[in-house]
Amino acid sequence: MSVNKEVKRITTNTLQKMKSSGEKISMITAYDFSFAKIFDSAGIDVILVGDSASNVMAGHETTLPITLDQMIYHASSVIRGVSRCLVVVDLPFGSYQSNSDIALASAIRIMKETGAHSVKLEGGEEALDSIRKIVSAGIPVMGHLGLTPQSIYKFGTYTVRAKEEEEADKLRNDAKLLQEAGCFAVVLEKIPAVLAKEVSESISIPTIGIGAGHFCDGQVLVMHDMLGINTEFKPRFLRQYLNMHEQITGAVQKYIKDVKTSDFPSDAEQY
Ligand code: KIV
Repeated sequence: MSVNKEVKRITTNTLQKMKSSGEKISMITAYDFSFAKIFDSAGIDVILVGDSASNVMAGHETTLPITLDQMIYHASSVIRGVSRCLVVVDLPFGSYQSNSDIALASAIRIMKETGAHSVKLEGGEEALDSIRKIVSAGIPVMGHLGLTPQSIYKFGTYTVRAKEEEEADKLRNDAKLLQEAGCFAVVLEKIPAVLAKEVSESISIPTIGIGAGHFCDGQVLVMHDMLGINTEFKPRFLRQYLNMHEQITGAVQKYIKDVKTSDFPSDAEQY
């Protein structure tokens, strides 16, 4: 594994250089101080404070209910845990779609109140005005195309996007528009690997894939999925690196037993 420990602080420029040199970008979600600290010291390049917090932290079925205030709470906790990686924060549903002034105001709140380094928002052509406005205020923006979970009620399903030529064409065009509007990177979620390859080769900004194959310039996974905290979600694209659900269950069951049998605390564990 080649973790670039030389780099002091990962910036959007670092990611651009990584794409140019062919070094893949690692990104993971985090929502709190403790996990952010572990991921940062493990050498992760980017932490995404995803609106997936709505699912994995708050237990909602979709990402739609999470609020800007709640995202700010998660992001400011994450920021206190990192010293090296770049932190990207999702603009939640409803905080940027109405118009570009509202989008800019939301992005400014995130930057001012959390200390994060950039924001992410979903959508292509329809989001361009907001992206341009946020970028022109000096705030780096990451785009997000393909399966954009904030539009789940439009899609009706979490299945692979852009399999049909019309949607694939729009995605190809959207990726170029996002680059022209000033995005520093773009997430490609759940699209065919060949399309992700084509898009990654056609734009100069990095693509970060989730369920979009290995031709992307980087990969992102939701921490609860890759660490096996959440065991019900098993899509084909997910590689599970730990089974924390099993490990935590075992540890807690052992603790319960030790308490019930008065094994814990021992003489050495008391004053
Ligand atoms: O909110 C999130 O976790 C995301 C990733 C799935 C890319 O947007």
